[in-house]
Amino acid sequence: MCGIFGYVGNKNSVDIIFSGLKKLEYRGYDSSGIAVVIDKELQIRRSVGRLCNLKSNLLKSPMSANIGIGHTRWATHGKPSEKNAHPHMDPTKSIVIVHNGIVENYGKLRTELLKCEWEFKSETDTEIIAHLIRRCYKNNLFNAVQKALCKVKGSYALGVLCKYESDKIVCAKQDAPLIIGVGKGENFIASDVTALLPYTRDMIFLEDGDIAEVSAEKIVVKDIKDGIKNREIKNIQWNAAQAEKDGYKHFMLKEIFEQPRAIENTFRGRIYPETGRICIEEAKLKEEDIRSLSNIYIVACGTSYHAGLASKFLFENFTKIPTEVDIASEFRYRTPILNEKTLIIVISQSGETADTLAALKLAKSKSCQTLAVCNVVDSSISREAKYTVYTHCGPEIGVASTKAFTSQLAVLYLLAFDWAYKRGKLTKEKLKEYLKELWEIPLKISKFLKNTESLQTLAKEFMNKKDFLYLGRHVNYPVALEGALKLKEIAYMHAEGYAAGEMKHGPIALIDESIPILAIAVKSEVYKKIVSNIEEVKSRGGSVVVVASESDKEIVTKSDYTIYVPEVDEFISPLMTVIPLQLLAYYIAVFLGCDVDQPRNLAKSVTVE
Ligand code: AGP
Repeated sequence: MCGIFGYVGNKNSVDIIFSGLKKLEYRGYDSSGIAVVIDKELQIRRSVGRLCNLKSNLLKSPMSANIGIGHTRWATHGKPSEKNAHPHMDPTKSIVIVHNGIVENYGKLRTELLKCEWEFKSETDTEIIAHLIRRCYKNNLFNAVQKALCKVKGSYALGVLCKYESDKIVCAKQDAPLIIGVGKGENFIASDVTALLPYTRDMIFLEDGDIAEVSAEKIVVKDIKDGIKNREIKNIQWNAAQAEKDGYKHFMLKEIFEQPRAIENTFRGRIYPETGRICIEEAKLKEEDIRSLSNIYIVACGTSYHAGLASKFLFENFTKIPTEVDIASEFRYRTPILNEKTLIIVISQSGETADTLAALKLAKSKSCQTLAVCNVVDSSISREAKYTVYTHCGPEIGVASTKAFTSQLAVLYLLAFDWAYKRGKLTKEKLKEYLKELWEIPLKISKFLKNTESLQTLAKEFMNKKDFLYLGRHVNYPVALEGALKLKEIAYMHAEGYAAGEMKHGPIALIDESIPILAIAVKSEVYKKIVSNIEEVKSRGGSVVVVASESDKEIVTKSDYTIYVPEVDEFISPLMTVIPLQLLAYYIAVFLGCDVDQPRNLAKSVTVE
């Protein structure tokens, strides 16, 4: 998730673009840049790090022009660096672009373009689009962008300038947000409303497949096949705070609702259900290494640890590799049996968690193979691990991790299925079935998120309870732990996640009518077992909320409240069952007036031990 901004009008575009990027910095902040056209030549200033570095760069070598585009980056391909910062030019320095999104077929396109002896200056997928547009350019920028985008597979919000047509910006949208700000004698493009509000409330929300030509006095929107699109100009009444959260009350709620897109983007370019292909470029483990692995340790903290716990079921069930999951702060102080046939998988949204980094270093000292699952490109953990597979969920601002958790699961599931197939433990047919299931998850989550009123009612019912018990079995036991953690960290309520089968070994003594129990009982091999656990707690007076599969009509006879979720394969169900638990904790915290995005005593990244 990056931020793009463009301006064309009668003012100095550089100042306006910089201010626009400042408003978009929360979307990405590892590098930034601005490009303008001055006397029919392109000029670019780019800097690595926060936007203040670009400001110093601009003060050192100022630019002034009436047209320009800018970008603040959240790296997905190519580490944060000046050469990977946007904007990117083609080799003839005639075309310059800024891009938010992922080019799925960039490997193939890059190979084709390299045959033309055009050198690439960066490691990004974006630069390829600049090359393609230049190759299609025949004195009409709009047509060149149309032709180039016919070759691109993936997501994009694009801003394009051409030194031969210095009165217009061409922009395009596919699976990434892009808005045109309509001014008087000036027009703007931006990734979201936040950056446009200081200049205009009149906006055109481009739709997938739209390509627009934006000059100071005119806006033309067409589709990739040249059909004119009449897009409505909307007048937006949000204030700045509402805009930064896209209209949501908190970043956490926004990020819960971003999960379908976050998972889609994490899968993008990595899975092909119709052919049963998985290609995780970054996980370059050799096939013979995958086949000869003796055991896996998954090491992480907090929510990332819960993602690791859930993935253990897949690694063991599908790859047949013995898999242990450890809390990083424990792992590093015990004497785990490690050797060069051990693979250590560390999971970290921030890539900066001190205990996880220390555990990784311990593993490397024992010659283990190391793979990190991170959300921040070029973070300390990603630099330390031999391989890093990135989640592509964009910056997670809320301290309570939500979209990072489901994106981590998405990556871990792909690794498990990929290695199971490569180890001959999963047939191509079964692999295709599971990839199809995964591919449908974003839609199923979106379907569930369309109606959350019942969760708000439940939250009102439980907001004054003192204790909560979350029960789960098998792959949903870690989800029970995660649901309890969410409630603890944002509503400051005592909540415990428990393996449902453990209840009769002590915790059932806790049960009385004052303690709500949340049980995850979706259709699975252990369904009957968890239902009997539900009956056990019911018989002792506890009120039970059940997360159940939408086809399960019997469960209502066992539960006091039933939260139905779309049917998914049991191994993949954590991607679905965690959503209601995230929302329930969120609504309870809101009703209690807690600081949801910045809960007391917590930091987004625990960089100290
Ligand atoms: C989860 O909501 C918390 N923010 C916390 O448990 C977090 O998951 C943990 O600190 C690990 O952070 P990391 O993923 O950045 O390593």
